[in-house]
Amino acid sequence: AEQYPFFGTHQAGITTPAQDRLHFAAFDVADSLDRDGLIELLTEWTDAAARLTQGLEVAEGGAVGGSDVAPPVDTGEALGLPAAGLTITFGFGPGLFEDADGVDRFGIAARRPAELVDLPRFQGDALVPQYTGGDLCIQACADDPQVAVHAIRNLSRIAFGRASLRWSQLGFGRTSSTSTAQATPRNLFGFKDGTANIKAEERDALGEHVWAAPDDGPAWMAGGSYLVARRIRMIIENWDRVQLGEQEMLVGRSKGEGAPLSGGTEFTEPDFEATGAAGQPLIDTAAHVKLAHPTQNGGARMLRRGYNFVDGNDALGRLDAGLFFLSFQRSPQQFIDVQRSLAADGLNEYLKHVGSAIFAVPGGVAEGEFVGQRLF
Ligand code: HEM
Repeated sequence: AEQYPFFGTHQAGITTPAQDRLHFAAFDVADSLDRDGLIELLTEWTDAAARLTQGLEVAEGGAVGGSDVAPPVDTGEALGLPAAGLTITFGFGPGLFEDADGVDRFGIAARRPAELVDLPRFQGDALVPQYTGGDLCIQACADDPQVAVHAIRNLSRIAFGRASLRWSQLGFGRTSSTSTAQATPRNLFGFKDGTANIKAEERDALGEHVWAAPDDGPAWMAGGSYLVARRIRMIIENWDRVQLGEQEMLVGRSKGEGAPLSGGTEFTEPDFEATGAAGQPLIDTAAHVKLAHPTQNGGARMLRRGYNFVDGNDALGRLDAGLFFLSFQRSPQQFIDVQRSLAADGLNEYLKHVGSAIFAVPGGVAEGEFVGQRLF
C-alpha cells in the first residue's frame, strides 16, 4: 500500500497521483478562538496529520491503548488498515484573515494575499450556503474511503470548540489523473476526465501554473497554491437522453477514446482550426474542451483534482450526483478566467454549480513546524 510523507517542500495531495477517494471538509473557526488558540489547533492538526498519513492512530494511546475510564484518543475505525495513500492538505479561507465584521482576530490581515477573496459570482451560479465558503479546509484523499473518513473525523474531533464543520463532501471516483503513470478515469457523464491536466512530471508547468512563487505575494505562500472547490451538480437524467454524437460535440472529444474530434488519439492536441467537409469546425465553438483550453484563456492552465459524488436522490427520484471540482493554481485568476470563458459552454445545460469555496494552501511543512507557520 502507498504511503506519502506529510512533510516536504509542498503539501502532499496536490501533485500526488490522485487517489480513488476523497473526504473534503470546510470549517468555521469559533468566535472565541484567538491567535494562540489557532496556532495550537494548527500544531495539533499537523501532529495528527503526520501520524495518520503513516497509517498510525491519531495520537499515542490510540483507540484501545489508553485508560478504560476515558474516551479513546483515536476513534478506532481505521485499526488494522494501512495508510492507503492518505494525504492531508490544509487550506486557509478569506474569512480567517478578516471575519464578517472586518475584525483581524488572529493578527494576520496584513499578510492576506490580495487575491484571496471570495470568488466573483459567475453566470449560472446557484450557490447554496451549505456548500459554500469556510475559514479552513482539509482535503483528505486515500485509496480507502474509511481511511479518508477516519482522518476527517479525528481532525474535526481535535478541533472541537475551536473550529466546527461548515460543510463536507465525500467523493468516490477520481475525475483526474495527476501523473502520466495513471490511466485517465471517467466522470459521471461517462467521459474521460483529466487527459489534458497538468501532471506531476511536468515540472516547468507546475512552476508556471500551480506553485506560488516567493514574489507573487506574501512570502509565507511560497511553494503553496490556491485551491478552488466547486460542487457541480450534474443533471444526469437529462444528459442520459442526449444522443451520443451530441454528447461528444458538447465535450469536443470522443466518448470511447477521449480523442479530440479534430482527430488522433487521446493525447493528440485538439486542432480548433480543423474543418469538416461542409466547412464546419470539427470541434464546436461551444465545446467544453475548446472554451477551457489554454489557447482561449491567455495560456491559463490549472491542476484539476476533482471527484465524482452521488449523495442520495431528490424527491423527484433524480440522483443528487455530480462532480466535486477541485483545482490548484498559482493564482485564483486562472480559475476565474477559465470559468468565465465556460459561460458559453454547451455543457451548462446539464450542470448547476451549487457550492463554491477558495482557500490559500500554504507551502509544505518542515518537520518540527506546524502547517502555515510562516504566516504567524
Ligand atoms: C477538460 C469535463 C468542469 C476546466 C475536460 C474534459 C472533460 C471535462 C470531459 C476533457 C478531458 C480532459 O482534458 O480532462 C468536465 C465536466 C465538468 C467540468 C463534466 C463539470 C461537471 C470544469 C470546470 C473547469 C474545467 C468548472 C474550470 C473552470 C477544464 C480544463 C480542461 C478540461 C482546463 C482541459 C482543457 C484542455 O487543455 O484541453 N473537462 N469539466 N472543467 N476542463 Fe472540464
